[in-house]
Amino acid sequence: MPKLIAANWKMNKTIKESISFIEEFKKITKNIGNAEIVVCPPFTLLHEIKKLLKNSDIKLGAQNMHFEDAGAYTGEISPLMLKEIGCEYVILGHSERREIFNEDDFLINKKTISALNHGLKPILCIGENLEQRKNAKTEEVIENQLRNCLKNIDKNQIAEITIAYEPVWAISRGDPNHRAATKEDAEEGHQFIRNIVAALYDENTAEKTRIIYGGSMKPENAKELLAMPNIDGGLVGNASLKAESFAEIVRAAK
Ligand code: 13P
Repeated sequence: MPKLIAANWKMNKTIKESISFIEEFKKITKNIGNAEIVVCPPFTLLHEIKKLLKNSDIKLGAQNMHFEDAGAYTGEISPLMLKEIGCEYVILGHSERREIFNEDDFLINKKTISALNHGLKPILCIGENLEQRKNAKTEEVIENQLRNCLKNIDKNQIAEITIAYEPVWAISRGDPNHRAATKEDAEEGHQFIRNIVAALYDENTAEKTRIIYGGSMKPENAKELLAMPNIDGGLVGNASLKAESFAEIVRAAK
């Protein structure tokens, strides 16, 4: 299974900026390894970027969606709209959605089911915050998030889901010097997640589930993180905003 390297641009870039990123990124990532690459820009850029990605292996993802197909939900975007525009992936349950916009596991579970029903591949984010980690609640938090968010999702569907372990304390929030989790701490989290997936489904399913790491992944640490046995890729925020630094991470995903 190739590693998955996904860019989460969060609320960054204008159309003009995104065009020059994609043009440069396409050039420098030609023939650089076999990672699966996904770009998840803000909604306003999806259409333009889809056009630019024609004849390229780079895939398109959104950062969020509503679970309904259509209706009176001011300001929301539906899975039908994402499919129509050409998204293959959708990030769900990001900690910024959970913390700033009060999304809970119940809602994220509904979104995950809806995405699967529409043929979108969820990148399901989980992870503990600093206080939970300090209080030795990491495993409890991760296990609860997984159990709740994967409720009523069967074994065949889990194959379409990528789990992103994003310890909230490791997320840069735009600070390029912010510290990532150590490779050992990240690996421990990933191993634990795989064990829970095995408990919820079975060993074979757990082996095949892609679990990617997010939280200050950058060119300086990507290689060592991605070399860990249970780290199957990365969800990259700040370091994905520049084509060269995102390409460097893709290169590290051998
Ligand atoms: P950073 O890479 O900026 O820490 O962001 C990680 C993240 O939140 C990706 O979803």
